[in-house]
Parts: sequence; structure tokens; C-alpha cells
Amino acid sequence: MRKKVIVYNRLEQPVLEKLKEKYDVHYFKDVDTRKDPTFLQQLKETEGIIGLELPVDRELLNSAPNLKVISNVSVGYNNLDMEEINKRNIMATNTPGVLTDTVADAIFGILVSAARRIPELDHYVKSGKWTNETIDSAYFGLDVHHKKIGIIGMGRIGKAIAKRAHFGFDMEVLYHSRSRKPDVEETFSAEYCDLNNLLSQSDFVCLITPLTPETEGMIGKNEFKKMKKTAIFINGSRGKTVVEEDLIEALQCGEIAGAGLDVFEKEPVDSDNTLLKMKNVVTTPHIGSSTYETELNMSKLAAHNLEEGLEGRIPPNLIRE
Ligand code: GLV
Ligand code: GLV
Repeated sequence: MRKKVIVYNRLEQPVLEKLKEKYDVHYFKDVDTRKDPTFLQQLKETEGIIGLELPVDRELLNSAPNLKVISNVSVGYNNLDMEEINKRNIMATNTPGVLTDTVADAIFGILVSAARRIPELDHYVKSGKWTNETIDSAYFGLDVHHKKIGIIGMGRIGKAIAKRAHFGFDMEVLYHSRSRKPDVEETFSAEYCDLNNLLSQSDFVCLITPLTPETEGMIGKNEFKKMKKTAIFINGSRGKTVVEEDLIEALQCGEIAGAGLDVFEKEPVDSDNTLLKMKNVVTTPHIGSSTYETELNMSKLAAHNLEEGLEGRIPPNLIRE
């Protein structure tokens, strides 16, 4: 009998088709994973789960007695309760590496957009407001080049951001992470800082740390107070690493100058969220890793991780913690 696999929310079509040749695949999108009877029935029998942002907790695992592999189509795995997964000897995997440069590009795009006010100016031009040859200085932005960027989280993506900042924009790079990275210090002339120093010195504060119990809410009222009034805050990690209410207040009180956000406390973000009404906030819909090329590569890698696990081998991107 073919092994049962649940595909949740997202997997690129060609990869999905290939999986179907080998496994008995059931696809679900945005179902209530606690109540949907078809999902729960499949969960009972499934050996593999592959997909995006499925909340895997004790309750779900208790309903999945045959589960062997959970393959995330993402680098972040805050949707997985690793303690419960490890207790059951289930293998969990993610997709590091393939999305590094894509996410770093997106973050730099958001950063430049916020500093140079590109979405606002795009609207200005398209809405016919550009009627004078001389642009009102009220529309001027801030420089990016030769400024200080503070990167919080120095994994692969942090490094790719540092590379762009140092070589592309002549920026001074400060960073904060759990451990020091001599290679980053050497290659990008980066300076390791404690969090407070990073916050008070940076023109751009760029958060790219994974969401864990330690990083949840790590940037809040006190942290925004330490930032420069001209600072722009960029969040490319997860919404919950920031206290969103405090971010809104910091922007409203002029404690910081602007923000670029790819992630939000609640996704999709509510349409009445105050952040969406602010001109100095640039938003994107958690799309940092989603280009045509990289989504396909992530899907392929996730499928490979799943297959290796289901065939009883150690998947290349097994999460070990
Ligand atoms: C995207 O946010 C990812 O974790 O891959
Ligand atoms: C992602 O791959 C990271 O380690 O930042």
C-alpha cells in the first residue's frame, strides 16, 4: 500500500504532481485542523506531512499515531512544537539555504523602499500629483548608503543582508546574535554589539532572528525608546518577535522614523490595523522567500526531506534541537 501524505497549504504544482506518483496524497488548505473531519481522518493514517504553517502541537500529534516525518516548506519552524515532536521520535525538517539570498533581497528592498519612500512616491506619481517640475521637499527620503545597519540574528540570512549592506551600500554593519561570528566580522567588517548598543547606534534596525520562546516580544517599548528618532525598523523574522502595539506607539510618538514589515502579529493582517494607515510604514504580505524560483526550490527541497524520512533515511535538513 502506498504511504499516506498530507500536503498542507502550499507546495508547488510540479512537486505535488511528483509526490502523487509515489504516495497517496491528500491536499488541505486553511482547514480547521482541530475539527475538519476529513483532515482528522487522514491525519490518523498519514505517515508524512509537508506544507506551510501547519500548527503542530500535542493535540495534533495525538491524532497522528502513524506520523514519521513533518516537512516544513519554510526555514522558520515556530509552527512546530519540537519538544512534543522529539518525544515521539518524529523527524521534522525545514528548508534553509535555498531561500537565503531571496529573503535578503526582499529585506533590502523593503529597507530601501522605506528609506526612499518608494511606495508613497509611486502613489504620488500614479495619482497625478506630480504637476510641478520641482518636487516638494516634504517627499524627500533618507540615504541608505554609508549609514549604520544593525542586524539582529546572524544566521545565513543575516549574513546575506550584511553582504549587501557592506559591499553594495558601503554601510557600517553592527550585529547582535547568540554567538559571535568571526567570519562575518572579518568579511563584512561587522561589529558585534550588545542589543542596547545596536539599537541606539543603528540607522536601520533589521530583525531577522527566528521566533522562539526567547525571542518572542524581544522588541518592545523599551527597545524602541533606545532607537534613534531617525531610525527605520525592519522586521523580516516573525510578527511575534515584536510587540506590535509598542511599534505602533513608537511610530505615532515619533520615537522612530519608519518601519518596513514583511510579517505581522496576526497574518493575514487585519484591514483596520493602524500600521496600514501609516505612510511611513512599508508592508509586504510575508512574502520574503516567495519568488517563482525560490518557492519551487523550497518545494523540491521539502519534498526531498519528506521522501528521505519516509524511506527511513536521515533527511538532509533534519531539525536537531
Ligand atoms: C519564511 O518566512 C520562512 O520561514 O521560510
Ligand atoms: C536562515 O537560513 C538563517 O539561518 O538565517
